[in-house]
Amino acid sequence: MASKEPESHTGAGGEPHQTAKSAEGRLTTNQGVPVSDDQNTLTVGPRGPQLLEDHLLREKITHFDHERIPERVVHARGYGAHGYFQCYESHAELTKAAFLQDPSVKTPVFARFSTVAGSKGSPDTARDVRGFAVKFYTSQGNYDLVGNNIPVFFIQDAIKFPDLIHAVKPAPDRDFPQAQSAHDTFWDFVSLIPESMHMLMWVMSDRAIPRSLRMMEGFGIHTFRFINEEGEVTLVKFHWRPKLGTFSLVWDEAVVISGADPDFHRRDMWNAIEAGDYPEWELCVQAFTEEEAAKFDFDVLDPTKLIPEELVPLRPLGKMVLDRNVDNFFAETEQVAFCPSHVVPGIDFSNDPLLQGRLFSYLDTQLSRLGSPNFHQIPINQPKCPIANFQRDGHMQTFVPNGRVANEPNTLDNGAPRECPETGFASAPVPEAGDKMRTRPESFRDHYTQARMFYKSMLEVEQEHIAGGLAFELGKCKELKVRRRMLGHLKLIDEDLAENVATKLGMVGQADKIEPAAKVRDAKPSAPLSQYRVA
Ligand code: HEM
Repeated sequence: MASKEPESHTGAGGEPHQTAKSAEGRLTTNQGVPVSDDQNTLTVGPRGPQLLEDHLLREKITHFDHERIPERVVHARGYGAHGYFQCYESHAELTKAAFLQDPSVKTPVFARFSTVAGSKGSPDTARDVRGFAVKFYTSQGNYDLVGNNIPVFFIQDAIKFPDLIHAVKPAPDRDFPQAQSAHDTFWDFVSLIPESMHMLMWVMSDRAIPRSLRMMEGFGIHTFRFINEEGEVTLVKFHWRPKLGTFSLVWDEAVVISGADPDFHRRDMWNAIEAGDYPEWELCVQAFTEEEAAKFDFDVLDPTKLIPEELVPLRPLGKMVLDRNVDNFFAETEQVAFCPSHVVPGIDFSNDPLLQGRLFSYLDTQLSRLGSPNFHQIPINQPKCPIANFQRDGHMQTFVPNGRVANEPNTLDNGAPRECPETGFASAPVPEAGDKMRTRPESFRDHYTQARMFYKSMLEVEQEHIAGGLAFELGKCKELKVRRRMLGHLKLIDEDLAENVATKLGMVGQADKIEPAAKVRDAKPSAPLSQYRVA
């Protein structure tokens, strides 16, 4: 704002005045009118009534009255920073995406990390999944990789997302608890949704209380498609690996920090960037073919499953460095709008039913959160390449197109934007056929094998943390039937874990008998995936 040092002095009534020394340091209204006095409203005489004509007062107060916008319906608490992505080499054999071709190009990025369940004012170190969203401002338009710090998700189908979030948010009648933890509605819901068991193991583990945002992995979770110049398709899963390694807090630390410094993670990130200690991640993919996918004993379209790295190793693509804090939290971190459907030529979706639902939800919610169909014009959302189309008008339109033509095809404007069949975005030509139905494939039904694999892969101390987390959470859950149901699921994951949690809860021998939806499989081939295979 004021570029010149102001002069400070005391006004007639003893109030402080800091006056501009030069024209560029002047305080103005939103209309650019210089303000003579920002301390006192316009009154009739020194002790008289205020005048409605005081446009300075009215403009200032009216704008203040409208400062708040709705917080995100999920992932409300977040922290973002600017940086760049640079690929290590050309990945042209996998994809034609421009930002993955030339190692000399630095693609600008904006990353936002978030908790899912808490409101905007909740503590940073709550036990929760962390959002890991990155906007790449590529030469072919914006690409958003909107992931989490856990490689799987609670549910298989987006139609259950509103229920999941209603269950995890504060109870509608009492508006507590704010944390995901210790929640009757949450545990009741997930205990009725066996597909959530794998994710629950992760959420009860130390992964859900990261030491630092700089020390978190990130995952795209769903299977996506890469398409190269020849039109060849490769399936991929995205991974972000932090250069500092992956570290967590222990629960007692997280609880103390939540009270002592609810801004712990954002302060850590901001300080590191200010100090030039730039956080860095490596972007990798697991790349595989439809034929390989068909041999896995799980379905790659099921977002509650990961692909073990023993089956498909990680292939490093490049690195992301965050090297600039935002200038303004609201303008950038609050107004940024990530959307899984923001893909660029060379990247495409899969039929993962959770992903397909997400493709609808984000633009829809942002229309109400940001209040205008023109929110792509907000600087943080604007692509850093030209935008040219015939979309017009709407609330808060700031673009000023010229000419009389707002349609295509047209022969009246030779300079008008035209389609580009060779270089434009094209979906992978995947043949699809079948009856309309509401069902889940048989290949989505094994809810316990990967939950068990995750638990078994933990060190003893980490297993004890999972058991402790479950016992703490279920101990706060007053509904005994919910605890019993959860113990029944835990028995199907690991008998020792169930026994440990039951002992801590004083409920040994009280687990419900849960019938798994399908036979519990241990690395046996699953049902044929033919209906999901690219012919
Ligand atoms: C926001 C990730 C599933 C709806 C977000 C954000 C992330 C994220 C990282 C915060 C973006 C930001 O920082 O601004 C994920 C992941 C999912 C998932 C990884 C599963 C794999 C879903 C589903 C839906 C959904 C199934 C709905 C059908 C939303 C909405 C927002 C959001 C409405 C708020 C967006 C905004 O206001 O800008 N999600 N999400 N998410 N997500 Fe998801």
